[in-house]
Amino acid sequence: MPTSHPTTRERLLELLSPGTEPGPTSEFVDLLGESAQAGPSTGLAQRLMRTSLVPVIYEHYWRPALGRVVKGLAGPSMAGEVRLAAELLHPTLGNVVLDVACGTGRFTRAFGELVGPSGLAVGLDGSRTMLDKAVSAGGAEAVTYLRADAVDLPFAKSTVDAVCCFAALHMFADPDAALDSFTSVLKPGGRVAILTSARHGWQPARLVDTAIGIGSGQRMFDRGEIAAKLLARGFTRVTERYAGVTQIVAGSLPG
Ligand SMILES: C[S@@+](CC[C@H](N)C(=O)[O-])C[C@H]1O[C@@H](n2cnc3c(N)ncnc32)[C@H](O)[C@@H]1O
Repeated sequence: MPTSHPTTRERLLELLSPGTEPGPTSEFVDLLGESAQAGPSTGLAQRLMRTSLVPVIYEHYWRPALGRVVKGLAGPSMAGEVRLAAELLHPTLGNVVLDVACGTGRFTRAFGELVGPSGLAVGLDGSRTMLDKAVSAGGAEAVTYLRADAVDLPFAKSTVDAVCCFAALHMFADPDAALDSFTSVLKPGGRVAILTSARHGWQPARLVDTAIGIGSGQRMFDRGEIAAKLLARGFTRVTERYAGVTQIVAGSLPG
């Protein structure tokens, strides 16, 4: 009798916390059912992500253009961000990589190539329209998508080798709970890489950053704040990079 290998979706379901109900079969595992979004709404920026229009223009126009504004001319390009995330997380064959708030899956697809068919690259997002676009973009065999709340990840403890969270932590209702959740799902030796906001240290730029953050429903973190949060959760080898009003912070748990 030939043995059948579990599908990518089945391998994803095996990693979820016991008792998690995957919902009716669709192109992605949907744990949010009828809810329009994950968790409480945090404002305009998050709402735009679940419209029909933004996901269509997101990857090629919206993210590169807004990214350039917030990172400044010296900041990395989109391709540069993907390369940097891969460098910081160094996914290897067979690894499980979780791309939290994956949007249209630009990073998830890159991780899918790096972990190979024996690994898993899971893109998690709260927006149906973002995930529809991600699914339609395809990707390697290891790529799979999940609709869930980034603040309370549905994975069992110590199941993931690397967590990527780019351009999203500042939109979450409870970023500290999200960081706790990232820490809990990572295996010993697991890696995290985060791109988020970084408020200027000097006035009046700091006031302007804060006002833009409040208006758009996005938290403006201080420089050093995310690194301190990772260190407080036991991460080591924490590195920080700054560009414009963004910070990229990475670290790993002791092995
Ligand atoms: C600006 S996009 C970032 C996408 C991708 N990581 C990137 O760097 O291009 C932010 C994403 O976060 C998602 N998001 C916001 N709050 C969320 C939450 N609580 N749970 C899951 N996804 C969330 C949005 O739906 C959106 O797709």
